[in-house]
Amino acid sequence: MKHISLGVFEMLNPNNGLPTWTHPDAKANSWDQMEYWVRTAKLLDEAGFDFLFFADTYGFPTIEGTVPEEVIRHGIQFPGLDPMLLISALASQTSRLGFVVTSPTTVEHPYATARRFASLDHYTAGRIGWNVVTGSSQTTTDRLFGLDDQQTSHDERYARAEEFLQVCSALWETSWEDDAETRDPEMGTYADPEKVHDVAHDGVHYRCHGPFAVSPGPQRTPVLFQAGTSSRGRAFAAAHAEAVFIQGQNAPQAAKQVASIRETARASGRAPESVKIISGMTVVLGTSHHEAQVRREELEDLYAPADAAVVFAGMTGIDLRRLERTAPVTEAVAAGLDSQQGQTLIDRYVKPGSPVPTIGEVLDRFRLQALRGFQLTGTADEVAQRIQDLVETTDIDGFMLEPTFGDSDVFAEFAQTVVPLLRQRELMPPIPAPESPVATLRERVTGSGPRRSSHHPSRESGQG
Ligand SMILES: Cc1cc2nc3c(=O)[nH]c(=O)nc-3n(C[C@H](O)[C@H](O)[C@H](O)COP(=O)(O)O)c2cc1C
Repeated sequence: MKHISLGVFEMLNPNNGLPTWTHPDAKANSWDQMEYWVRTAKLLDEAGFDFLFFADTYGFPTIEGTVPEEVIRHGIQFPGLDPMLLISALASQTSRLGFVVTSPTTVEHPYATARRFASLDHYTAGRIGWNVVTGSSQTTTDRLFGLDDQQTSHDERYARAEEFLQVCSALWETSWEDDAETRDPEMGTYADPEKVHDVAHDGVHYRCHGPFAVSPGPQRTPVLFQAGTSSRGRAFAAAHAEAVFIQGQNAPQAAKQVASIRETARASGRAPESVKIISGMTVVLGTSHHEAQVRREELEDLYAPADAAVVFAGMTGIDLRRLERTAPVTEAVAAGLDSQQGQTLIDRYVKPGSPVPTIGEVLDRFRLQALRGFQLTGTADEVAQRIQDLVETTDIDGFMLEPTFGDSDVFAEFAQTVVPLLRQRELMPPIPAPESPVATLRERVTGSGPRRSSHHPSRESGQG
């Protein structure tokens, strides 16, 4: 049985994608407190989780330039803090846990992004990963950054992302030779100028000239994660990502998705199994199946349909509230609303050969599974069995636990009840001895060495 990667999916918002902060077990008063995140990171570290992932975006739902009042009133992806600024503090309080932070390729500059992640590679001692996104809620972000006159298309954003990553890779991988940093006080040589090279990139979207001012950390390049699931997003992931986040819905669909990502990786000249595929998973546990089911219903009742429609509109640019619930969802496209903002949602709901769902059906499915993966409900034994079945039938490499009511107590419950069963089934390795060496995040998630493979296309792109 292969060992799975185990992570947690989090956001620096009062809610978890949809409103739960009103629940007594939520983190309404702790989500913006350092102590809360330190406690969460420590519990994951001690339980043997591989990483804590922070989704992030500058945006929040807006509809035609206006913030719907539900967004502010109900705390829907708003307010939000910058997760990257937390990582050093969390790394200092943990010993093995990795951290994956989302940063967009749209409004940032490659040099600044490369510098931040290379710095975090030092501060975390090689426990950092980057979730490379072209960015959700892009219309909102563009307005905030004054870029709303540019009208960049979905595929164009991915073309920019390719070049963005090419510049970052050149900075991380080619500027410093391995033995450039000698720190030799006797010679008075900090680093050998002959071994620190200029990057020279003159591209379509970016120019970057000069040496990288950050010397290489243990991984040089942060572990590259990706989560785009449109066809363009999948091609980007297959070419560049070391790990891909998916939102598995059921075993057959996930198996197809895994096979397709691996096949696209093969077509890009990579070993298919070198791309690790990690699915989101919402787990609701109980001491009996019935108790778990009752908790699941309590959770789902928190998700108001009107709020879900606002999130949907913010993500897709399609305000389904303006159309009849009984109309086919394709009517939204016929009505002239485009899907440039996030093609994934349309890809997800409109399947060739299947009946086109109605707007009401789409919103209900979105409400219960928005931004979420597999839905598991049951006792610890049932959940462990289901995880094993999913690994066996889909070839998935790992899972991320999605928050439910909000507080990290649910992760502690999973750690105490399900993780020992996963270890018994040899789906997770034993807890490492305290004196054993600390693996980098890359070694932990990909099973390779600490550095990005020299066969990796992004690395080979070298100096632009
Ligand atoms: C599991 C998962 C996590 C994601 N996390 C983020 C995120 O943190 N920030 C973001 O802007 N987009 C996030 N996305 C969205 C995508 O990465 C991507 O930018 C968006 O879906 C548009 O690209 P696409 O049309 O190729 O999917 C996530 C998607 C998935 C499936």
